[in-house]
Amino acid sequence: MVVTSPSSEIPLALVDVPARPLGPRDVRVRVRAIGVNPVDWKMRSGGPLRLAHRFVGPSGPLVVGVDFAGEVVEAGPRADLAVGARVVGGTDFSRKQLGSYADEVVVRDEQCAVLPDSVSFDAAACLPVPGATAMRAFEVAGGAPKSVLVLGASGGVGIVTLQLARARGMRAVGVCSTRNVALVESLGATAIDYTQSEPLEAARAHGPFDLIVHAVGTATYPLGQCRSLLAADGIVALVVVRPADWLAAAFLPSVTTVLGRPNRKVLAPLVDLLAQGKIEPLIEARIPLAEAERAHQISRAGKVVGKLLLVP
Ligand SMILES: NC(=O)c1ccc[n+]([C@@H]2O[C@H](COP(=O)([O-])OP(=O)(O)OC[C@H]3O[C@@H](n4cnc5c(N)ncnc54)[C@H](OP(=O)(O)O)[C@@H]3O)[C@@H](O)[C@H]2O)c1
Repeated sequence: MVVTSPSSEIPLALVDVPARPLGPRDVRVRVRAIGVNPVDWKMRSGGPLRLAHRFVGPSGPLVVGVDFAGEVVEAGPRADLAVGARVVGGTDFSRKQLGSYADEVVVRDEQCAVLPDSVSFDAAACLPVPGATAMRAFEVAGGAPKSVLVLGASGGVGIVTLQLARARGMRAVGVCSTRNVALVESLGATAIDYTQSEPLEAARAHGPFDLIVHAVGTATYPLGQCRSLLAADGIVALVVVRPADWLAAAFLPSVTTVLGRPNRKVLAPLVDLLAQGKIEPLIEARIPLAEAERAHQISRAGKVVGKLLLVP
């Protein structure tokens, strides 16, 4: 049983699809928790992602979702995960895989990281796309960035970015609204309340920054103003890329786009941090998979603090 969206912007529907065959290095994972990301509902409408899915994705109905945590129930002959392993991972439509809003997913072994018993499926399912995105942002900053400004500090990406910054001993500043100031401060960051002052001007007093992570989908922070807050060799990592910023990202060394693609290499260190308590999941709500439409309505409103989970 999976949640599918067979044509453009239509209600989700639970349908039965035939079980996918396993390749030699594939595993079948019984899904226990699904992390909701804005990309899940963006995939349902037109736009570049949906187009990409049409060209390179699997045929048949679109099964949305990327992030999952669950148990391996079947393993191909060359897979390096055993039946019974607890794992977290992300699906990849460019490998012709169906999405994670499902009872089970079939993915390559190296798309999954193993979970210790101490890490719950719910906690793990918060990680894949947000964690991979945050890790990529630190990577594009090169060397060892010492300071970060996070725009969208209370969202899925923002929270894990701040927690990673804390684990790395970085100076962190997070832009959020009044209701999330205490949360951002509890993550070891200086909070800037965007409802009380012009946030980028307020951030100037705490700069310059080696890295600025732009992770707000519902508001615009002008790129030029962001760049003026950078240290020499600093970089703006655009998690959300507006058409107007494509040229800057293509030609300016101080601006780049980041894409979070979960795989074992990026997830294993995140799972370690989760097990050590250095990353703590913040789950706003657990919603039954059958009510995925409701989860998407909540996510679309752009107010989620931490993560929404779906439970099959
Ligand atoms: N490139 C990639 O690989 C990648 C990966 C993940 C996500 N994304 C994109 O990045 C965006 C964020 O993703 P997400 O999962 O973090 O989203 P999210 O969890 O839905 O983010 C919602 C958060 O943003 C905060 N927010 C809203 N307006 C804000 C503003 N003007 N300034 C600062 N914070 C604001 C909201 O709190 P308040 O309303 O209280 O401020 C809320 O806590 C989405 O557009 C998503 O599609 C891209």
